[in-house]
Amino acid sequence: MPTDDFFYYKKDQLYCEGIKVKDLAEEFGTPLYVTSKNAIIAQYRRFEKAFKPLNHLTCYSVKANYNLSVLRTLVQEGSGFDVNSGGELFRALKAGAKPKKIIFAGVGKTKAEIEFAIKSKVLFQKVESLSELRVIDEVAKNLKTTAPIALRINPNVAAETHPYITTGNDEKKFGIDEMLAEDAFSELAKHKHLKFVGLEMHIGSQIFDTQSYLEALFKLLGVKAIAESKGFTVKYLDIGGGFPITYRTTQPAPDIEVFSEKLIPLLKNQSAQILFEPGRFIVGNASVILTEVLYRKQNHRGKNFVIVDAAMTELMRPMLYEAYHDILPIERKEREIIITDIVGGVCETGDFFALDREIPEVKEGEHVAIFSAGAYGAVMSSNYNARLKPAEVMVDGKKVKLIRKRETYKQLIQNEVL
Ligand code: LLP
Repeated sequence: MPTDDFFYYKKDQLYCEGIKVKDLAEEFGTPLYVTSKNAIIAQYRRFEKAFKPLNHLTCYSVKANYNLSVLRTLVQEGSGFDVNSGGELFRALKAGAKPKKIIFAGVGKTKAEIEFAIKSKVLFQKVESLSELRVIDEVAKNLKTTAPIALRINPNVAAETHPYITTGNDEKKFGIDEMLAEDAFSELAKHKHLKFVGLEMHIGSQIFDTQSYLEALFKLLGVKAIAESKGFTVKYLDIGGGFPITYRTTQPAPDIEVFSEKLIPLLKNQSAQILFEPGRFIVGNASVILTEVLYRKQNHRGKNFVIVDAAMTELMRPMLYEAYHDILPIERKEREIIITDIVGGVCETGDFFALDREIPEVKEGEHVAIFSAGAYGAVMSSNYNARLKPAEVMVDGKKVKLIRKRETYKQLIQNEVL
């Protein structure tokens, strides 16, 4: 189990903080996302402590988990927010985020989103192409204002992680190529309705090795020197997110302090304010999915299948990235170990949580927990097969709050016109 502090076994029952999760399954039904409020707070504070020597603002990356209650928890902690769409901006504002603590990203911002960001008075928009610079200038001009912008730089480093979640090399669509940064500053100089305020990078996600950050940061500092030589002031230097969490206890992620110790010496003498955009680090291990074992079956070769009531619709990560998530029965007792696939009920071969996994033998009707589902879980859920999106609850000590109601059939068709 990747986290012991907020999800743990007591008297052989799995607890989230002060609540037995079996009681949650009974009260709210399954599948159910269960989020520990204090796990979020603890991770946020740990991040803040690790980077305390720096003048910095942590902008939680909303895409990892944007339930309003999750966002509100972080607003109360003083966090800033990194948003990647008009919808995420809307959510952050609804949760009470201050616009001056919101940064707006996205490689494909529409004019409507740009306008929304300008009118909301966000801290800045991160620009990913020269064309986008022109469009933001035009939108700002029409609104008779100037738009604060930062350049997202693609530093051309290959961070070692799953190829689908690496972003900072020149094969990828993200950012402005560091080799072409000069062009971006020449373009910027032509636009009166843009105010350059900083530089950003984000090299990928779930990155274990500090070297990639250091290499990328050197490149970013090189671009900063170019900016300054052209008379631009870099007020904000944004290092992005990507800090890893442990999914598998046998492959623990390096502590955040390993990253802060390497990064701080390079950043502490910068006059710019340093920004970070952690997503997964803050929320990844703060939620589990509770799911019921519906059926068990075996094929003629003795291969086992455990079929649960959650599916790829609730957690796409195993299917998309072959991601590993711990899965355990919520009641601990002496059991045989079986080797089995754990699958959902969606009509897709890729609808699995685990393949050939050793788990304690489970019976039909029992509940299991899928761990580390807090980041890129609920936010990537879908209605495929016309499945209803599950409920979400947040546990705070001995208190439980329903933070998202289970969807109904009526809601499933509410936007359709017959
Ligand atoms: N900043 C930017 C610009 C990003 O694109 C992302 C994530 C983050 C920050 C936060 O990254 P984090 O700290 O969470 O690693 N669905 C994939 C992850 C996609 C990440 C997309 N960008 C997964 O489930 O692993």
